[in-house]
Amino acid sequence: MKLFIVTFTILIPTIYCLSDQEEWQQFKTQHGKAYRSLLEEKIRFDIFKSNLRMIDEHNERFSNGEETFEVRINQFGDLSQEEFRQMLSLQKDQIPDRGGNLALLDGNEDLPEEVDWRARGAVTTVKQQGNCGSCWAFSAVGAIEGQIFLKNGILEPLSAQNLIDCARGKYHNEGCYGGSMKSAFNYTRDHGVLTDQEYPYVSYSGKEGKCKKQGGVKISGYKVTPEGDEQALAKAVALIGPVSVGLDATHMQFYSGGVITKKSGCKNELDDLDHGVLVVAYSEDYWLIKNSWGTTWGEQGYLRLKRNDGNTCGVASIVSYPTLD
Ligand SMILES: *[C@@H]1O[C@H](CO)[C@@H](O)[C@H](O)[C@H]1NC(C)=O
Repeated sequence: MKLFIVTFTILIPTIYCLSDQEEWQQFKTQHGKAYRSLLEEKIRFDIFKSNLRMIDEHNERFSNGEETFEVRINQFGDLSQEEFRQMLSLQKDQIPDRGGNLALLDGNEDLPEEVDWRARGAVTTVKQQGNCGSCWAFSAVGAIEGQIFLKNGILEPLSAQNLIDCARGKYHNEGCYGGSMKSAFNYTRDHGVLTDQEYPYVSYSGKEGKCKKQGGVKISGYKVTPEGDEQALAKAVALIGPVSVGLDATHMQFYSGGVITKKSGCKNELDDLDHGVLVVAYSEDYWLIKNSWGTTWGEQGYLRLKRNDGNTCGVASIVSYPTLD
């Protein structure tokens, strides 16, 4: 017994005292990182070390009550914030869209205080987009999956790859280099979207493929809610299901838990939105959002964002959801 306790107390400090070099080795192994040259590796290692320092400082402030969320190293550990921001891939050119597609969720009926579509079985598992800028495709299929479940009672992961490879050309998306949820919905209205099983995800490395096949379930179109209106977003989530939104995700690189607020530095102008995600739940306090950066990012792949605090990070700026006949 004594021996056990001794070993235990010795083990704990070693876990927290890995050298930068050891953490780097662990990081490279865990995320399968390989660099083209020693020079590149040195540059990446320097960025990694500066990220480690930043993370330590942030979490120190968190323990002093000066931050609202925690951070930890993850697959983005060798990217500077600028590189991370550039990797985000929500297209901006198609954002303005009102008129006929504006959702008519009139009336002031009392909304539930809390909604969680995960508990009702309308949300598939968290996906990992890898080095491909395909957030828009994952956000779109997430919203379609929810609507199909609510209509047919069948929850089936749909193919982001299908949208990445095929919703191009007149749909203006650029595969792994960005796209928009609304044009993904238009593609699905015209051609349908296959299941993940029929058209599996292969773009982890950032390479896209040719359009291999088309078909699958169709939608009738999409609706949007008024820009910046959090009450309209709540109504859509409560009455419709999981909905697609855009965010300024610049400051979410290392998020590992807690509630993100304006204090993080995120903005909410249309021009600032750079990431597509899915709102699947809300409480009085926060929006609960499904991301596509794997389950080791955030709270098992999800993030919480302060609700009713002036459109935090643009969560209510570009809200859209698919309609089914
Ligand atoms: C989707 O299609 C509708 C009708 O064809 C069009 O008005 C709208 O601009 C399209 N949306 C996008 C984002 O391309």
